[in-house]
Amino acid sequence: MASYDVIIIGSGPGGYVCAIRCAQLGLKVACVEGRDTLGGTCLNVGCIPSKAMLHATHMLHEAEHNFAEMGLKGKSPSVDWKQMLAYKQSTIDSNTKGIEFLFKKNKIDWLKGWGTIPEAGKVKVGDEIHEAKNIIIATGSEAASLPGVEVDEQIVVTSTGALELSRVPKSLVVIGAGVIGLELGSVYARLGSEVTVVEYLDTITPGMDAEVQKTFQKMLTKQGMKFIMGAAVQKTEVNKSKAKVHYKLRKDDSEAVLDADVVLVSTGRKPYVDGLGLEGLGIEMTKRGQIKVGKDWQTNVPGVYAIGDVIEGPMLAHKAEDEGMAAAEQVAGKHGHVNYGVIPGVIYTHPEVANVGETEATLKEAGRAYKVGKFSFMGNARAKTVFAGDGFVKILADKETDRILGCHIIGPGAGDLIHEVCVAMEFGASAEDLAMTCHAHPTYSEAVREAALACGDGPIHM
Ligand code: NAI
Repeated sequence: MASYDVIIIGSGPGGYVCAIRCAQLGLKVACVEGRDTLGGTCLNVGCIPSKAMLHATHMLHEAEHNFAEMGLKGKSPSVDWKQMLAYKQSTIDSNTKGIEFLFKKNKIDWLKGWGTIPEAGKVKVGDEIHEAKNIIIATGSEAASLPGVEVDEQIVVTSTGALELSRVPKSLVVIGAGVIGLELGSVYARLGSEVTVVEYLDTITPGMDAEVQKTFQKMLTKQGMKFIMGAAVQKTEVNKSKAKVHYKLRKDDSEAVLDADVVLVSTGRKPYVDGLGLEGLGIEMTKRGQIKVGKDWQTNVPGVYAIGDVIEGPMLAHKAEDEGMAAAEQVAGKHGHVNYGVIPGVIYTHPEVANVGETEATLKEAGRAYKVGKFSFMGNARAKTVFAGDGFVKILADKETDRILGCHIIGPGAGDLIHEVCVAMEFGASAEDLAMTCHAHPTYSEAVREAALACGDGPIHM
């Protein structure tokens, strides 16, 4: 039996970042992980492999659609699926090994196996019980199940199976037009699959800026994806190597069936807390099955903390990382803090979609007076050179004070551009502060400045 200041259960972005910060703060740390590699869902079967597939297939798209116009002639590349999966695996391996290196560097013990908490202050891994002054639960999430839909990870798959298909399917039905469905749907659409997305609501990507939703759906449709909106999937049936997807239209209750080689179920995720022993410990949960925590990420059981997808808030790797650092600081007697008002969201399709802060809908609901500064990438010289003039930047600022309240971007590099707005918001900046900051020319970031200018006297290139 070993004794630690902190044992973290789970080595995803929440857990491993928390472990490193704890070690940096002088605490004796161990991290429990049952997978063969560190990094959790994000590194092994989520963010990283999906970005590899998005990158590879975007290159294919460029070769097929834009090379000739730039004078790059010749045969378009053909897809070697095995090699593409091998490339994807290599990106996973280098990242998971990187975490292993960081654990060694920071003298963090990796307790290999699945952990349970028999009582506060103790973590059981395999047959061994380890003592810990503090325990931090960072066990992440798993795909939520959908009634009538049985996942086999071959024909009816979650994101995990979708990243490991034995071949590119001729037809793919995606259930749910959220982040996972659109990112992975894009991957297969670019590879030539006929992709149909069935979405319960009337708009894609719930909760996002309404104009972005519309523009985004139009762009994806232009890229070949089909959408059936306002349709609730009732069940799937698998017959040998094919599936049928039954859905009902909300507007008139009419029913229809789609045939598919593969069905991707992307209708949300739920906290993964199975087998931790939370009930026995008496840990309080929310109605939605999340672990309830206080402002210091401590549960109702003293010395037991929780961070990331197992608690409330958006299920995002970077939100978990921030909580990991903050919880580590709390455990070390410091004042860790997360500003939940400034957590960006990014969808890594092409173009990328990014947002932070309030939407027009949330501001209207709160009755807050605001102004909108919008700038189209059509007016951005750099975007036009790379065939990316579609899309826009929209900044929302307080009508009176000009303070930036939110930003919504659809366009090239949106996932990186959003961060200058995040920094501005952290500093309580006004749109004018952004507008008065010199931005290099020619860069995509000039579109952000122009949107900020549009909150005042107007943009230059529009
Ligand atoms: P989601 O919550 O983003 O979207 C699920 C969609 O499924 C919703 O639009 C919902 O209306 C629809 N839906 C639910 N039941 C349905 C039914 N029976 N028939 C038709 N449509 C139905 O969920 P998703 O995409 O599975 O993502 C899960 C989590 O993972 C999210 O919290 C997301 O933020 C996170 N994630 C984030 C990524 C990123 O930041 N780039 C990448 C991948 C995942």
